[in-house]
Amino acid sequence: MNEKILQILNEHPDRFISGEFISKKLKCSRTAIWKHIQELRDYGYEFDAAPRRGYRLKRKPSRLDIPSIINKLQTKFMGRSLHYYDKVDSTQSIAHSLVAGGAKEGAVVIAEQQTAGRGRMGRNWFSPAGKGVWLSIVLTPQIPLQLSPQLTLLVSVALCRTITNLLPVDIGIKWPNDLLIKGKKVSGILLESSTEDERLRYVIAGIGISVNLTREDYPAELQDIATSLLIESGSEVNREELIAAFLQEFEDLYAIIHQQGFAPIRLLWEALSISLHRPIKVHTSRGRVEGIAQSIDDSGALIIKLKDGQEVKIYSGDVEVHR
Ligand code: BTN
Repeated sequence: MNEKILQILNEHPDRFISGEFISKKLKCSRTAIWKHIQELRDYGYEFDAAPRRGYRLKRKPSRLDIPSIINKLQTKFMGRSLHYYDKVDSTQSIAHSLVAGGAKEGAVVIAEQQTAGRGRMGRNWFSPAGKGVWLSIVLTPQIPLQLSPQLTLLVSVALCRTITNLLPVDIGIKWPNDLLIKGKKVSGILLESSTEDERLRYVIAGIGISVNLTREDYPAELQDIATSLLIESGSEVNREELIAAFLQEFEDLYAIIHQQGFAPIRLLWEALSISLHRPIKVHTSRGRVEGIAQSIDDSGALIIKLKDGQEVKIYSGDVEVHR
């Protein structure tokens, strides 16, 4: 039915077509047409709708050109096995089940849209169709379980460097791994680990980048706290190029952490951090901690100097940076 509605609207790109006309042609109710239009909107189609005049197709959703990503990829293993979906609940879930089916390190799941995108601390991640990069990577890192947060920092460094290389935006990392432009979040990272006998079996690194969303795309509750690369750079970003460049950067840094340990990654993270050496508030599950962010330790924990000079380590929480 969706296809047929699109076909009718496509035949008259400059005109409004009434719901009544479409419903007669397709032999169904106007309410059914309205529901299908809503469903198509969910898929990223944009329509002009006017009372008594009907619908006009404004924009088709942009779709990733997977062969173009494959053509651009120069990596050894990151993204060499690429699983592309139109609409999924979460690319994280798909990646977990791929591992169960034997997927190897570097396998990547990408979706145009997520209906239940997962964020840190049990939050949702807004993932509309055709406008972002929503991807998950299967990793089997050779590092001890307690050092796995290092990987989160590594992903944020890889992503920050990729974006800085491609676009004229002033982007930085807020501990542990939020990417912000002018104080607004443009990307988030979620690591989910599977362990066995206190050892890391595998990790799924989930990366969400708000790429070509416009202001209007965001729901009211995100308007003031979230942004996109399009909004900040002023032009549409080639998602294929961004994905290929990120996978390359990530593979390079992933090799460094295995060969040289965390020290070089920590230096890079510190240089890109917007939370260090500033007064901050951290909201943790145990309450609020206020002080000056000093540094990060080998496990990726944030070291904060309190007013009384005492130093505390924070392993998880939400940071508020004072300006
Ligand atoms: C955060 O809260 O900042 C983390 C957001 C992580 C979102 C990405 S989008 C791709 C992957 N799939 C998910 O369901 N979540 C991650």
